[in-house]
Amino acid sequence: MDALQIEKLTKIYGSGDTEVVALSDATFDVAPGELVAILGPSGSGKTTLLTTIGLVTEPTRGRVVLDGELIVDHGWPAGLDLKRVRREKLGFIFQAHNLIPFLTTVENVMIALENNGVAAKEARERSVELLRSLGLGHRLDHYPALLSGGESQRTAIARALANRPRVILADEPTAALDTENGKNVMRLLKKLAVENHSAILVVTHDQRMVEGFDRIFEVSDGRIVNERRNGISADA
Ligand SMILES: Nc1ncnc2c1ncn2[C@@H]1O[C@H](COP(=O)(O)OP(=O)(O)OP(=O)(O)O)[C@@H](O)[C@H]1O
Ligand SMILES: [Mg+2]
Repeated sequence: MDALQIEKLTKIYGSGDTEVVALSDATFDVAPGELVAILGPSGSGKTTLLTTIGLVTEPTRGRVVLDGELIVDHGWPAGLDLKRVRREKLGFIFQAHNLIPFLTTVENVMIALENNGVAAKEARERSVELLRSLGLGHRLDHYPALLSGGESQRTAIARALANRPRVILADEPTAALDTENGKNVMRLLKKLAVENHSAILVVTHDQRMVEGFDRIFEVSDGRIVNERRNGISADA
């Protein structure tokens, strides 16, 4: 089963003279463990694609099936528990600095598990293990203000992955990092996607970050205008 099936997903903001078609008829499937990069200029609709899939922005039209569950059918289906789906099946990674400042590194990860009903003791054990695997074993009890940009972002990744979501949505996760740290974060995402069989959609401005991705979508004016498999060059 696909992790994600998207059909004619469309988002129109406003109406009449102020209407903006932010996303138009996006159609694609993503398999478990697959990494998809989304490239495109500012304002092209990349974030809208993630937030409509992520149940943050209600789409205008289209369908989304997440892990076999219909989560978008034109708009949001009546009775769909958006919070439950977000909590159980989705992981979000945005630019750094979205950690909770008054919680330590390990507590920032634990909270994601506890919100999903995992008891504190187990939540701590799993969080510690995950953070160690991300090279943060020496930062468990630090507060976010004391972490480097790369460390903050790895903590945010640990938090997004803690519940082993089917689909991970990352919006410019490397934007605040230098090239080297950015590449490390991307490598890590890939490793975890494969291990957890999670599908990952990553928005980036930066062509250099997409090595190792399975597929690359280019977005322009709300449309996916080009799709290619990595290693197969579209330009010839
Ligand atoms: N809440 C909103 N209300 C009205 N228009 C919006 C809203 N959010 C986004 N838009 C518009 O939708 C279009 C797509 O925006 P979006 O944020 O998805 O672009 P983006 O590709 O993520 O850009 P960037 O690279 O700058 O983050 C833009 O024209 C934007 O102005
Ligand atoms: Mg954006």
